[in-house]
Amino acid sequence: MDNLIADIAVFDGNESENHEAVKLLQDQNTGKSRKLYIESYGCQMNYSDSEIVASILQKEGFDTTSDIHQADLVFLNTCSIRDKAEQTVRQRLTVINVLKKQKPEMMVGILGCMAERLKIKLLEEEKIVDLVAGPDAYRDLPRLVDQVEEGDKAVNTFLSREETYADITPVRLNSNGVTALISIMRGCDNMCSFCVVPFTRGRERSRDPHSILAEAKDLFDKGFREVTLLGQNVDSYKWSAEENNKLWMEKKGISEVVSFADLLEMVAGIHPDLRVRFSTSHPKDITDEVLFAMAKHENICKNIHLPIQSGNTRILEMMNRGYSREWYLQRINRMREILGPDSGLSTDIISGFCSETEEEHQDTLSLMDEVVFDFAYMFYYSERPGTLAAKKYADDIDLEVKKRRLDEIIVKQRMHSGLRNTQDVGKTFKVLIEGRSKKSENELFGRTSSNKVVIFPKEDKKKGDYVTVIVESCTGGTLIGKIVK
Ligand code: SAH
Ligand code: SF4
Ligand code: F3S
Repeated sequence: MDNLIADIAVFDGNESENHEAVKLLQDQNTGKSRKLYIESYGCQMNYSDSEIVASILQKEGFDTTSDIHQADLVFLNTCSIRDKAEQTVRQRLTVINVLKKQKPEMMVGILGCMAERLKIKLLEEEKIVDLVAGPDAYRDLPRLVDQVEEGDKAVNTFLSREETYADITPVRLNSNGVTALISIMRGCDNMCSFCVVPFTRGRERSRDPHSILAEAKDLFDKGFREVTLLGQNVDSYKWSAEENNKLWMEKKGISEVVSFADLLEMVAGIHPDLRVRFSTSHPKDITDEVLFAMAKHENICKNIHLPIQSGNTRILEMMNRGYSREWYLQRINRMREILGPDSGLSTDIISGFCSETEEEHQDTLSLMDEVVFDFAYMFYYSERPGTLAAKKYADDIDLEVKKRRLDEIIVKQRMHSGLRNTQDVGKTFKVLIEGRSKKSENELFGRTSSNKVVIFPKEDKKKGDYVTVIVESCTGGTLIGKIVK
C-alpha cells in the first residue's frame, strides 16, 4: 500500500515556490506509549532532519502520528529563508494554540532554522512554545522534553562544528519506499549576502563517507532505488581520514581525502540499480571531476540544480556569490558538453535584490533565454536580519517592482519549461517508477534521469521498477507516454 500522505503546499507569493511545503509524517505503530507529530518547512535538509528527530525520539518512547489531535508532542521544524517562511510558522502556531487550549498537556516545540535564529526570544514572543531546539541540538531532545515535562521551558541552540548525526539511522517518514534523502554535510561557509543559512546552520562540515555508504547500501537492501545526497553546497564536500577510519579506508582502497566527485562514484558503485541524485551544487565550486563522474556512471542522474540568483555580474558581486554571469554560462556549456544537451538543469532566481536596476533585471531574463532552464524556484528578495546584505545595503526596491519582476521571470520560465518538455516528445527514457499517478488508478508516474516527471499506463509494473517509456505528449510540467519495455 502507498504510504503517501497529503502534502499541504504553502506557497510563498508565487506558484513555483515549494520551499515552504509542509509535510506530515506517516503513522508509526511500534507500541510506544506517546505520539510525536512533526511538520517540516523549508528545504530538503529539514525534511531529512525530521527523520533524524523521529529516530532520536523513537528511542525515548514516541511513535510518530499524522494526526495532530493524537499528539503528545508537536514539533514544527522551521525555515527562516524568507520572511514569509517565518510568518507561515507563526500563523500555524495560532492554529495549534486552539488545540493546546483543549489539551494543555500537549507539548509544542520549535526546531530548525527559526529556532536557531530567534533562540530564547521565541519563547517570549510565542507563549505557546515549550521547547526551542536548533539544528545541531537534536541529540539533546530527550533531555529537553524531560525538562518540559517537569514544568519548565527548554532551549538548546548551540551550534556545533562537528555534529553530522552520522551514526543515527533516520526513520524514513513520508516515504514512497523508492526514493530517500541522505544528508552528506551540514552548515554553509559561503556567506552569500542575502542568506540566513550560515547563521542558522553554522559552519560547514562533511559527514564521514563510511556512514553515508552504509546508509545508502542499507536503503538499497530495503528496496529503495534512488538516493539524493544533500548539502547546502555539495561541491565543497570534503572528508579527510581520521586515525580510526584510516584502516577502513585503506581496506576499501579509498584515498585519504574524499571529494564530492569521489563520494558520488562510491555511492554509484553500490549497485547499478541505485540511482544517485544530489543537491545543491554551487556555480563557483562545481568541478569538471563531478561532471566526469556523472558521465561515467549511468546511475548518477543527469540533472543539476545550479542556482544562478541573478544574471547580472554587479548584482552577483553584491550577493557575494563568487562568480560572474560569464563564469556561469561557461559552466553550463561545459555541463552540456560533458553530459549532453538532454541533461536536466534547474536553478533558483531572486528578483529585486538591493539596488537592482531595470537593465540588471533584464540581464536575468536574457540569461534565462540563453540557458533555457528546465525548472526554477523563483523568489523576490526578502531582507533577513543580521545578513551581510541587511547590514550593508538598503532594501530599496519597492515590493510592487520586486513582484512585477518576479512575474516576468515566472512567465519566461513557464515558457521555457514547456519548451524543454516539448523537446522530449518522441524520445524514449529510462524511468524509475515512484508510485501511482494522482489522477488515475491505472497510471503510474516516475522520473527520467534528467528529473522530468513522466506519467504512463501501468500495465503490469509497480513502483521501484525501471521501465523504458516513449514520450507521446506533454503538459507544462509533465511528460505523458507509454511503456515500451
Ligand atoms: N544552498 C543553496 C540554496 C539555499 S536557499 C545555494 O547556495 O544556492 C534556497 C534559495 O532560496 C536560494 O538559492 C535563493 O534563491 C533563495 N533565497 C535565499 N535567501 C533569500 C532571501 N533573503 N530572499 C529571497 N530568496 C532567498
Ligand atoms: Fe545560503 Fe549561499 Fe550557503 Fe546557499 S551557498 S546556503 S545561498 S550562503
Ligand atoms: Fe530554510 Fe534552513 Fe533550509 S532557512 S531553506 S530550512 S537550511
